[in-house]
Amino acid sequence: MRYGYFDDANREYVITTPETPSPWINYSGNQEFFSLISNTAGGYCFYKDARLRRITRYRYNNVPVDSGGRYFYIREENGEFWSPTWAPVRKKLDRYECRHGLGYTRIYGEKGDIGGEVLIFVPQDFNGEVHKVTISNKGSQTRNIRLFSFIEWCLWNAYDDMTNFQRNFSTGEVEIENNTIYHKTEYRERRNHYAFYSANTDVAGFDSDRYEFIGRYNGFDAPQAVVEGKSRNSVADGWSPIASHSFDIMLQPGEQKVIVFVLGYVENDPDDKWEAYNVINKKKAKKMIERFADPKQVDEALEELKQYWDGLLSRYVLDSSDEKLNRMVNIWNQYQCMVTFNMSRSASYFESGIGRGMGFRDSNQDILGFVHQIPHRARERILDLAATQLEDGGAYHQYQPLTKKGNNEIGGNFNDDPLWLILSTAAYIKETGDFNILEEMVPYDNDPSKAANLFDHLRRSFYHVVNNLGPHGLPLIGRADWNDCLNLNCFSTEPDESFQTTESKDGKVAESVLIAGMFVYIGNEYVRICENIGEYEEAKAAKEHIRKMKENILKYGYDGEWFLRAYNDFGEKVGSKENEEGKIFIETQGFCVMAGVGVETGEAQKALDSAWKYLDTEHGMVLVNPAYTRYHVELGEISSYPPGYKENAGIFCHNNPWIMCAETVLGRGDKAFELYRKICPAYREEISDVHRMEPYVYSQMIAGKDARRHGEAKNSWLTGTAAWNFVAISQFILGIKPDYHGLVIDPCIPKSWDGYRVTRYFRGAVYDITISNPNHVSKGIRSLTVDGKEFIGNVLPIFGDGKVHKVEVVMG
Ligand code: GLC
Ligand code: GLC
Repeated sequence: MRYGYFDDANREYVITTPETPSPWINYSGNQEFFSLISNTAGGYCFYKDARLRRITRYRYNNVPVDSGGRYFYIREENGEFWSPTWAPVRKKLDRYECRHGLGYTRIYGEKGDIGGEVLIFVPQDFNGEVHKVTISNKGSQTRNIRLFSFIEWCLWNAYDDMTNFQRNFSTGEVEIENNTIYHKTEYRERRNHYAFYSANTDVAGFDSDRYEFIGRYNGFDAPQAVVEGKSRNSVADGWSPIASHSFDIMLQPGEQKVIVFVLGYVENDPDDKWEAYNVINKKKAKKMIERFADPKQVDEALEELKQYWDGLLSRYVLDSSDEKLNRMVNIWNQYQCMVTFNMSRSASYFESGIGRGMGFRDSNQDILGFVHQIPHRARERILDLAATQLEDGGAYHQYQPLTKKGNNEIGGNFNDDPLWLILSTAAYIKETGDFNILEEMVPYDNDPSKAANLFDHLRRSFYHVVNNLGPHGLPLIGRADWNDCLNLNCFSTEPDESFQTTESKDGKVAESVLIAGMFVYIGNEYVRICENIGEYEEAKAAKEHIRKMKENILKYGYDGEWFLRAYNDFGEKVGSKENEEGKIFIETQGFCVMAGVGVETGEAQKALDSAWKYLDTEHGMVLVNPAYTRYHVELGEISSYPPGYKENAGIFCHNNPWIMCAETVLGRGDKAFELYRKICPAYREEISDVHRMEPYVYSQMIAGKDARRHGEAKNSWLTGTAAWNFVAISQFILGIKPDYHGLVIDPCIPKSWDGYRVTRYFRGAVYDITISNPNHVSKGIRSLTVDGKEFIGNVLPIFGDGKVHKVEVVMG
């Protein structure tokens, strides 16, 4: 069952019922101001940091769900009222449609003769949301309606706002001037920022105090002011400041009226904070309001946003006979990659924006997915991340985007972290050829006195593994590797301890075969970087460490039919046929084969065959099998989840693409694509009632076969799944791979495919690549021509001439 459809021409997903199985959301904002918008206008916005600069309130885990948003109420002559976005009034609409586009959302609701459209987006280079509301009269009578707007301010720090009521019920302050309500809580003291909500049309009334507007025991669905049809003109004084306008709108038959609202954020210079005693300086806000005084300006800004996306998405364009594949590759997967870049794992409907800031491993992996779109922002992100690295090569696990400083609360010691920095830097250099990034001076521990060049950071990342090997010569795991829930040094028996930060063992025994596989795969990139910049001795030494690691993986990290997952603190195998539960894990089967371990000697193929045999389901591959059914103190959080959920044998979509990539290493294109389809949201659209999350973006997890709700997704949007699936499909399956000195063509596809075409922008030229597969093979190139001339090899040169080059590839 579906709840909408893809409109590929407009790059929109069109939702046709407000009652989706879960709020289906979208994001807006590309630079510093960001918004989450559900299909019923729920959600919130923030400036840079979802925790520290939250602009509007949102209630996670509320009943009903999705509570808090940009709400509009249309009150008709007879006193009946409804919301054009369905929520919050939730009165049945005669027509409803939500169009989630790239960076904007348009929701239309119609009831009787009145139609209401709400367009919400963050314009480019603008610290605010614009709401364009169009009310139309479809009938033959003149209508007089009253429109109310509503948003609720968050008192900036989202955590404090939800917890510190003894203080913040007394701090709220606003100013009201004309059609604008200014939120200035704490501005008198240390804050130099405020927010505002304005309308371009004269108001009939306003409210800024929540109790006055809503009434003490009403809900958002029936605010007392709307019930009575009259704003209170309230001025908030403590409690909960809000912003609401009301308007009297007369509509002739067939007429429509547009009101533009701006919900903005302003930072003032501390020396220029006030325009009079305790009156905020509103100059910047007025400029922002002025910018969208006319609805035409809104349309232009939306057009500009669309062009921006045209540009970003023009860099990798697939033309195949599979429309689902085209829409994922050309639109939604790339879009999700940009969102994960902006958000890391901070703010979604599952991430509260309070907990985590930007993750070191997460953000490095996100770069793999969007680097081709905005390489200069990848560069900046790499340097920010590297600055949170520690002197021994380890890294802070997270940092706050506002301060860019590593979080002390969680610290470091996740031993996979440093390697991801090498991988993201390699991806960036391959995309751009910018080896100069390696010369950038970057602090350790955010301390400029401890700066060294980025290459030094990569070196320390590499040696962080080499210097932390365990009894089998495999990498020590630390608190955890990629799998945050495999906590081998934790041994926690207290329910309130964090699995991530509790360490009760010295960490000298437990080893990770995943980090070993990563070390081989990513270490090879390190070697290639060294060779490219003339660090030959270093390359040679690194190769030797990699060779030894490969040997140790095959000797101690292989279990006969698949790769082991780890050794625990007792030196016992994890992910072995000897274990009662948790016999085989997905991560090492993917990464070790991607790294080429056991490819020549057969272990690799056996490992992947075992993955299909033991991990595969109709909805993708589970993370581990059999699931843990009891708590294993020596394994940690993984065994805390009920079987089939999250890391305990959920289908963790992030590492399914590792298997896809690994399958292409073996040349098995059919298998790679079979798995791609299983977890790819567009192919799952038809089972939206089972999948339940948005059919246009990946979710972190789909419940595994041991779960009662097998096939149901969770934690949509913010997941490394986005980046890795884009890498898997665009580079490993469709086979267009940027490399240090050219663009490599190496497809690995289902045999039945006849061919496809990819237009790839790469270092200043466009490669128009047609791939045909007359002999129906999965891998291998029979001939290749560039601009009509025969070409030897499969590494296309860097043209950099701003021209389009035709590349014809015949497989066989
Ligand atoms: C979450 C985390 C990520 C981790 C994964 C597996 O998605 O954000 O860092 O690798 O879970 O535990
Ligand atoms: C929990 C989750 C895991 C996530 C981690 C982040 O362990 O299961 O997916 O990475 O929290 O803190």
